[in-house]
Amino acid sequence: MGQKFKLSPVRSENSLVLVIRMRVVVIGANGQLGTDLVKVFDAIPLTHEDIDITDPDSLDVLNAIGPDVVVNTAAYVRVDDAEVEAEEAFRVNAVGALNVARACDEIDAINVYISTDYVFDGAKGEPYVEQDIPNPINVYGLSKYAGEVFTRNYSSKHYIIRVASLYGRAGGGNFVDSMIMRAKDEGAVRVVDDVFMSPTYTKDVSYMLRRFLDVGPEFGVYHFVNEGCCSWYDFAREIFDILGGDVRAAPIKSDELGRRARRPIFSALKNKKLEGLGLRMRGWEDALRGYLAEEMG
Ligand SMILES: NC(=O)c1ccc[n+]([C@@H]2O[C@H](COP(=O)([O-])OP(=O)(O)OC[C@H]3O[C@@H](n4cnc5c(N)ncnc54)[C@H](OP(=O)(O)O)[C@@H]3O)[C@@H](O)[C@H]2O)c1
Repeated sequence: MGQKFKLSPVRSENSLVLVIRMRVVVIGANGQLGTDLVKVFDAIPLTHEDIDITDPDSLDVLNAIGPDVVVNTAAYVRVDDAEVEAEEAFRVNAVGALNVARACDEIDAINVYISTDYVFDGAKGEPYVEQDIPNPINVYGLSKYAGEVFTRNYSSKHYIIRVASLYGRAGGGNFVDSMIMRAKDEGAVRVVDDVFMSPTYTKDVSYMLRRFLDVGPEFGVYHFVNEGCCSWYDFAREIFDILGGDVRAAPIKSDELGRRARRPIFSALKNKKLEGLGLRMRGWEDALRGYLAEEMG
């Protein structure tokens, strides 16, 4: 059993007090979301070099650290490649999640598995809530759903946090940055207007997870997205509207892209259970404005 809580000295106005802080480990620490989580939690970072979640022996490092909370952001995220590398996608997203779940149970840590809107098929036509039944339509989504089931059934203390269409400062190559780069290089961008989702800022997910863990709600599935939804075309238009300048975004249809994996055409999420706890995430337009202001500043 690991150390339960870390006592940290904090200087208040005229005294030194000891506060109880959760010892948090982030797996996938230099990924897009992992980077912000590490900062927000002042967490112990584990990169792919430090831990390979597909190798159970590698998970021994968690025993040595003795965390209260393990946030597992490690994933195989290449949605199109997953169609032809299904075994590898399942090895990381499903078997990896099983290994993390077992390790967390052994050390009595809370297991936070980051999942995706792609567990849904998109047929509902309105934002999915936590109670909706997943029905993945691509290998990536199915491997993440398998990861959810392993997390639920192999770690007694677990949170499954579904996020969507992430962008953040780390990692490079997110949708926002790539729109700005392509507009600079090509003067105009073509973006699909028939696929709808909830664009979400990684920093907002990270701060919300901190508030959420402070509340300590019952274990289970939760949706964490910036509120509202839009098509990828609307999202691109908003980026250029905020930045100003004369950039043209042209709408196209998703079948023109000829991508290998099918995508849900409407995978927006609603944070119904967060709202039930009195917790709200800001709207996607505000979050985007915040991200761009920080990037440009
Ligand atoms: N990006 C999105 O739009 C999106 C949407 C919905 C849900 N999600 C979920 O959100 C989570 C975070 O996504 P992200 O965009 O931050 O992904 P990311 O930037 O690709 O980060 C994933 C991290 O996992 C590491 N990793 C991969 N395989 C590993 C293994 N076997 N053992 C240990 N670490 C491993 C990667 O390291 P290396 O690069 O060094 O291999 C990388 O640092 C994932 O669970 C993803 O499924 C993402």
